[in-house]
Amino acid sequence: MSLKKYLILATLCIWTLPALCGVQKPRVTIVATGGTIAGTASSATGTSYDPAQLTVDALMAQAPGISARATITGLQLCNIASQHMTTQIWIRLGSVIDSLFKNDICDGVVVTHGTDTMEETAFFLDLVLGHDNPVVLTGAMRPANALGADGPVNLFNAVCLAAHPAARNRGVMAVMNDYIYAAAEFTKVHTVNPDAFASPDRGPLGVIRGGNPHFFRGPAGRLRTQLTCNTKELQELSDKLRDKAFPRVEIILSYAGATAGLIDALLKNGMDGIVIAGVGHGNYSQEIETGIQRCLEQGVFVVRATRVLAGGVTFDVEKPFDGQIVSGMLSPQKARILLMLALTRFNTTEQLQKIFNR
Ligand code: SIN
Repeated sequence: MSLKKYLILATLCIWTLPALCGVQKPRVTIVATGGTIAGTASSATGTSYDPAQLTVDALMAQAPGISARATITGLQLCNIASQHMTTQIWIRLGSVIDSLFKNDICDGVVVTHGTDTMEETAFFLDLVLGHDNPVVLTGAMRPANALGADGPVNLFNAVCLAAHPAARNRGVMAVMNDYIYAAAEFTKVHTVNPDAFASPDRGPLGVIRGGNPHFFRGPAGRLRTQLTCNTKELQELSDKLRDKAFPRVEIILSYAGATAGLIDALLKNGMDGIVIAGVGHGNYSQEIETGIQRCLEQGVFVVRATRVLAGGVTFDVEKPFDGQIVSGMLSPQKARILLMLALTRFNTTEQLQKIFNR
């Protein structure tokens, strides 16, 4: 073989072999937790189905385009419907993702998850993880064998996003129905439609088309410095949970005629904080107000949030809510997570309010 031919061949090998072997592709780990994306129905057109039936390998096999976009590995963390998600599983998930990035095992992570509590898991991960690598949650509204199943395309989009350099440094995101959402902002707004999520105040972060993300804006602010956890700190959280020393925070819904019965029951049981899902701009009944006073007297922190989808509850410097913390733009369910985690490090209303203000 002439030198010229050899050089051409060698150059071709240098550029094509790594691609053929997959070494040039980003490495994405899919961590599966269950949900409808892993669900199966007895009929492709019926409405009832069982969530959390398929394993991560089956999910990967249903989205064949993903292996062209990334070198994929699958990991089954649990297989549950997401109404059964727990703080313990969140901590395990956080530890797994932390060690995947810390040990340079992958470039990005996709978490498959039920849509019911996906916003909570995403927010928890956003608070505790301190890496720039993309973490993308996705799920489905239709089970895997339904007519028009949305899981495969959502998984494809999530893998493409997790593999994409533009997804770095944007915090934890979710992908659903071609939209990209920020963890702190999105919520589930439909019980059955595949377009199930929305970010009521800010809109989606972007869209994904043909596997290519298009971002409309930068990420929302993050809380890295205050609440990020390394592996040891995540283990400490896990130990606290096991020893029942983890902050206990519950949510109380306000409505016309709401009484303080549930607040008093919680106080009797021992509680570290409550979040009020108030009406309007975080308002509540006279009875709840007296219950809140009893909480504050007993050192239980109270966060004032709203059951209204948009607008949040803003901090009023002229008229601070006497001893209560204001949730800002966070929904009650996300305010609960932030309060729980913040209480592992801070213990004054002022410190906690500062974290919520960010
Ligand atoms: C679940 O959240 O596990 C069930 C509902 C869904 O995934 O859409």
